[in-house]
Amino acid sequence: MIATAKSVLRKAQKGRYSVGAFNIYNIETLHAVIKAAEHLKSPVIIQTSESAITYAGLETISELMHISARAAKVPVVIHLDHGRNISLIKQAIKAEYTSVMIDASHYNFEKNISLTQDIVKSARSKNISVEAELGIIGGKEDDLSGTSWCTDPKQAVEFVKRTGIDSLAIAIGTSHGAYKTKGISLRLDILKEIRKHVSIPLVLHGASLVQKKDITKARNTGITLGKAQGIPKDQIKKAIRLGICKINVDTDLRLAFSTALREHTQHHPESINPRDALSYAEEATQKSVEEHLKLFGSEGKA
Ligand code: G3H
Ligand code: 13P
Ligand code: ZN
Repeated sequence: MIATAKSVLRKAQKGRYSVGAFNIYNIETLHAVIKAAEHLKSPVIIQTSESAITYAGLETISELMHISARAAKVPVVIHLDHGRNISLIKQAIKAEYTSVMIDASHYNFEKNISLTQDIVKSARSKNISVEAELGIIGGKEDDLSGTSWCTDPKQAVEFVKRTGIDSLAIAIGTSHGAYKTKGISLRLDILKEIRKHVSIPLVLHGASLVQKKDITKARNTGITLGKAQGIPKDQIKKAIRLGICKINVDTDLRLAFSTALREHTQHHPESINPRDALSYAEEATQKSVEEHLKLFGSEGKA
């Protein structure tokens, strides 16, 4: 069933678990996430980045998400991840996404507030939830790059009050992509301080685990990964205990999908049916999503 982020996240906040938000860009990743959530009876968020929309087309990917979410046996939120293009965010609202993120975190505080207020105004009348970001989540991934700046707890209070957003993405040392540098030890003290004064759901981006077992598997297929490293599981658990209730994951799913595609093509050189390798990659992605949902504590919470 289609759900709003507001309902799903408020429930998670009360229940002290986190809802996984997974990036999708094609039928296989979409099905993998929904199948995993149904299998574990967990609520879930499917999200498309701006570049995923450019890749798949807004109408196409939106229709696919709506059809799958409507048919799902668990609550599914349809979310726009890192909306930086105001016109695209408004198109997503028109396309009936049930949640959008306005990411104006690269602007100064006042501009971040005014752009966010504008989106809250457009989304409100349609009961669409709005996530915004304060502080900079670092990392190099496509067009998302920059230095990591932790969220200032005092600014967070003012930001939430003046914008009226439904959830806040905070920067506490995570970064996007497979090469996280500060994530080993998150600034949980800052999270604690923000949670003390901000009552809306808090969001953790750049939370992929990039586990050794997955790096080894990827390397065995010939993927070159350099000094890849992610966020340790215990840090994620602590962050959830301290009040994070939405966790964004993209890189771990890309790693699972790419590794499986290679494994399949290497083991089945005779196959000329792309669906064979794609189904295998979908299964690997589903497994990765399930591992995350269990870690986030959302199993059985649908
Ligand atoms: O947070 C960023 C996501 O990983 C989006 O990446 O723009 O390559 O889809 P993408
Ligand atoms: P990862 O790159 O760590 O998977 O983070 C994804 C993310 O934050 C999407 O918004
Ligand atoms: Zn992100």
